[in-house]
Amino acid sequence: MSEVILRKLNKNDEAAFLAGAKAWEGEDPHWYSFNWKPGGSFSEMFAKLEDEDAGRNLQPGRVPHTMLYGFIDGEIIGRVSVRHTLNESLRKRGGHIGYAVAPKYRGKGYATEMVRQALSFCKSLGLTSIMVTCADDNAPSWKVIEKFGGVLQDKVWDDEDEETIRRYWITF
Ligand SMILES: CC(C)(COP(=O)(O)OP(=O)(O)OC[C@H]1O[C@@H](n2cnc3c(N)ncnc32)[C@H](O)[C@@H]1OP(=O)(O)O)[C@@H](O)C(=O)NCCC(=O)NCCS
Repeated sequence: MSEVILRKLNKNDEAAFLAGAKAWEGEDPHWYSFNWKPGGSFSEMFAKLEDEDAGRNLQPGRVPHTMLYGFIDGEIIGRVSVRHTLNESLRKRGGHIGYAVAPKYRGKGYATEMVRQALSFCKSLGLTSIMVTCADDNAPSWKVIEKFGGVLQDKVWDDEDEETIRRYWITF
């Protein structure tokens, strides 16, 4: 497996970010970014990421949040979203971290490696346990969670997405 570097974007990452987006064509754009859609401005998106990371100008219902991107040889392969705290909505579904790997890089252990690095980041925030949720039938996702000692809290029906989800806790 190639070395993955999981880190925040910086203002010089525009070319890598735009190139990385091409690997998500046909997928839900949220898997790549919450603040950007094809054709959108990198600098505006980057300013929002900096604000969310610092907990500034948060939109209603949003908590401080850091987006970490996984790079291999300068190319973006996926991302991990880290919520610094939970609110009612994240407690229901979403939890502290969410991750996605571009389709062409899946099945190679990259989500596992990105989550391993993201857990260190969570510890650096002072978190001692994190909630992680996924659809009940998303085996690649719950396998990652269970690899890191995730303990199943429960399985609940999600009215909004009309599916059963699993809610886990990983304690450091
Ligand atoms: C979930 C996701 C991040 C997994 O990424 P990935 O890089 O393929 O994951 P890994 O290669 O680290 O594999 C994780 C585990 O899932 C298993 N796995 C991978 N693809 C699988 C599949 N199609 N069916 C069953 N298991 C699978 C792997 O074998 C591995 O388990 P193992 O180590 O016990 O063999 C990726 O599928 C994705 O981005 N999906 C869309 C977004 C998403 O669902 N995110 C999770 C939201 S909670």
